[in-house]
Amino acid sequence: MRKTANVETEGRESMDQLVERALRDAVAKTKRNTLRHGDRFPYITEGQRYDWRDDNNEWIEGFYAGLAWLGFEYEGDAALGDAARRLTARLVERMVAHRAMGHHDIGFLYSLSTKAEWIVDGAAAARGRTVQAADVLMERWRAGGRYLQAWGEEGHAEHGGRIIIDCLMNLPLLFWASETTGNARYREAAEIQAARSLKYLMRGDGSSYHTFRFDPVTGEPIRGETHQGYRDGSTWARGQAWAVYGFALVYRYTGERRYLDAAVRAAAYFLSRLPDDGVPHWDFDAPKHGLSNRDSSASAIALCGLLELGQLLEPSAPERESFREASERLLRALIVACSTLDDPDAEGLLRHGAYNVLAGKGPDDYMIWGDYFYVEALMRVAKGVPGYWYERKRDV
Ligand code: GLY
Repeated sequence: MRKTANVETEGRESMDQLVERALRDAVAKTKRNTLRHGDRFPYITEGQRYDWRDDNNEWIEGFYAGLAWLGFEYEGDAALGDAARRLTARLVERMVAHRAMGHHDIGFLYSLSTKAEWIVDGAAAARGRTVQAADVLMERWRAGGRYLQAWGEEGHAEHGGRIIIDCLMNLPLLFWASETTGNARYREAAEIQAARSLKYLMRGDGSSYHTFRFDPVTGEPIRGETHQGYRDGSTWARGQAWAVYGFALVYRYTGERRYLDAAVRAAAYFLSRLPDDGVPHWDFDAPKHGLSNRDSSASAIALCGLLELGQLLEPSAPERESFREASERLLRALIVACSTLDDPDAEGLLRHGAYNVLAGKGPDDYMIWGDYFYVEALMRVAKGVPGYWYERKRDV
């Protein structure tokens, strides 16, 4: 992979300066997108451009709203704040209409929109809408099988018994809803989902299955499978990244040691499979000839997980220092080898994301979630702003 031209000064520029420059550039591009494209959302296409549409019917729109919220938090730019509120309102309108809600990614959609609005603006209505989103997610709870069904309607022939590792990132919405309402039912479902994800999606060496199937009636385990990875027993890099960050967040909410250990093992595995240039291949077990795509979005997600672990691990934890060094390495690689810092006209922020390589869908392009987690990582490092997965401690 080529280096981004105007970061060749890296020898002279400190990491802090590089991060600040990358963040300023990313926020400026986000602002320009919101001014240029109004309240439309970016969808994945090919040839390093986003397809801006009104549709609002996918799992990914929250990432763009979240980017606008992060941009607003960067310097309090009023235009970005207005854009963040308008994009969030579009997601509220969708929820009220109960349109395109038949999947588990309600956590991605509303943690980064209405919950962000609650965290940033303190708007009580946004808090209420976020609880409503948790209720929508609970519609996916299958009491017989005891899991959150990822995709499709109840009883779906292919997906009816399926959980997926990505769902770990939707659990913070449920944990938060119990915290904020005092109603335990959200947390109870999230705890069962987390425990079964740990038991059935994680393998002994710290790698992961993308998906796992249960008997939908009895909840009996059947087998691990992939959906977007190379093959059933391989490790899909983004799934592994969801495990790193997802288990870290489950630990933050539950305080249960086994989830911290799971996040650490998942992170160690992810780092052990990185190539020399620090940008992961899309699947760690795919052949490197012919299918050598990278997934910068997996790297950005894992990086946020590592930064979260940096806050959660005890000072004496043996992994602390190596994870800190790895975070810096991943961030530098993202900025130098993947970011659009060298192209003032680019709409996207990170090149070389991979959506679904074998399906030929976005195999090497901008991914809006990659852009979101890239800016979350930059904001964590530069400003101590950790995104919108949990409420920040308020001074009392
Ligand atoms: N959660 C879907 C994906 O990571 O592609």
